[in-house]
Amino acid sequence: MSYNLLKGKRGIITGALDENSIAWKVAEKAHEEGATFVLTNAPIAMRMGEINKLAEKTGSQIVPADATSIEDLTNLYTKSQEILGGKIDFVLHSIGMSVNIRKKIPYTESNYEYFMKGIDVSAMSFHKMLAVAKKLDAINEYGSVVALTYMAAQRVFPFYTDMADIKAMLESIARTFGYHYGRDKKVRINTVSQSPTKTTAGTGIKGFGDFYDYAEAIAPLGNASAEDCANYCITLFSDLTRMVTMQNLFHDGGYSNTGVSNEVMAKLGIGAE
Ligand SMILES: NC(=O)c1ccc[n+]([C@@H]2O[C@H](COP(=O)([O-])OP(=O)(O)OC[C@H]3O[C@@H](n4cnc5c(N)ncnc54)[C@H](O)[C@@H]3O)[C@@H](O)[C@H]2O)c1
Repeated sequence: MSYNLLKGKRGIITGALDENSIAWKVAEKAHEEGATFVLTNAPIAMRMGEINKLAEKTGSQIVPADATSIEDLTNLYTKSQEILGGKIDFVLHSIGMSVNIRKKIPYTESNYEYFMKGIDVSAMSFHKMLAVAKKLDAINEYGSVVALTYMAAQRVFPFYTDMADIKAMLESIARTFGYHYGRDKKVRINTVSQSPTKTTAGTGIKGFGDFYDYAEAIAPLGNASAEDCANYCITLFSDLTRMVTMQNLFHDGGYSNTGVSNEVMAKLGIGAE
């Protein structure tokens, strides 16, 4: 069902790699809710060609940008405003990559070159996206910027290795930049802390499948899907949340506030349902 929540709004959506990507679902929902937007991804990810299908489906244009490049990001905001016919109302940062995770390197033995790469791609890129937008004055008042994060920023999930520290930085950028951008231009910045989700980035993590099932058994509502996450992002882009900023918002079926569930105790044979 559509509520026209984003009617007349212009956006930039990063990170749609394939139809499992959270960003892909956000683009579909934003289209349903009446927004127009530009899709972007790293030039290397474009080679898969999947994003063209999404662009066609949502009537969007694609502007490639490596989110670590100030030059690419400047071009992204400039072109997007030309294509969409005005300033931007919402931006989704849906970018994550850790070489240490990809190469299955244990946290305590992290390779620092890979660590730096992970920081640049997954956290610093958020600062860069915000800094370029602010410099170009590319986002409207009460515009909304959302980045996706994970709870390993607050609590230990050993398999998440260096991404835990990187997400902590991402969430801190949302708070600190949110203060400055809010005060100067009334732009809102939040992070959404999402349940484990079966995407390319998610399933690349060692032991992801088992953990997905564990989280499902802990969360009273179960794991939040990519579609659910997209719906939540749409509310944050809409005018219904215009006083929400500098927050890390858990979107996880209640996982983050649950110590243990009866279901997990029963599975361990140490408790009754
Ligand atoms: N899948 C999960 O379990 C989960 C849970 C919580 C948060 N998240 C976060 O959600 C976000 C989206 O991930 P996803 O799960 O949809 O996976 P995904 O693999 O579909 O998306 C990750 C995207 O990052 C893009 N990217 C990588 N390097 C880039 C660069 N240099 N410039 C621009 N784009 C680049 C990739 O091309 C890809 O589109 C990430 O920030 C991830 O950490 C995922």
